[in-house]
Amino acid sequence: MTWIPVADLAEFEGRPVLAREAAGHALALYRVEGVVYATQARCTHAGALLTEGEVVEGYVECPAHYGLFEIATGRAQGGPVCRDLATYPVRVEGTRVWVEVG
Ligand code: FES
Repeated sequence: MTWIPVADLAEFEGRPVLAREAAGHALALYRVEGVVYATQARCTHAGALLTEGEVVEGYVECPAHYGLFEIATGRAQGGPVCRDLATYPVRVEGTRVWVEVG
């Protein structure tokens, strides 16, 4: 597993989710009440990009069929989604955001 710098906190200005690529993994980075989380970028239902979804109160809604995931845990919340998202450890040093991928 390797820690990779993927973003600066300033990039979340006015945007709740960022699309990033790290070591071959497509990631969605979210900032929820000051805490940064990382999940796989693609929905587990049919692969739509969650980075184009709606982020509301700690959840991301898939833009394709409105599947809902809890951002902090990646847990699928029902509807068309039944498989959880992969999540990745995140750490923030100063304003730099690092994600551990392997
Ligand atoms: Fe996300 Fe269908 S692709 S709910």
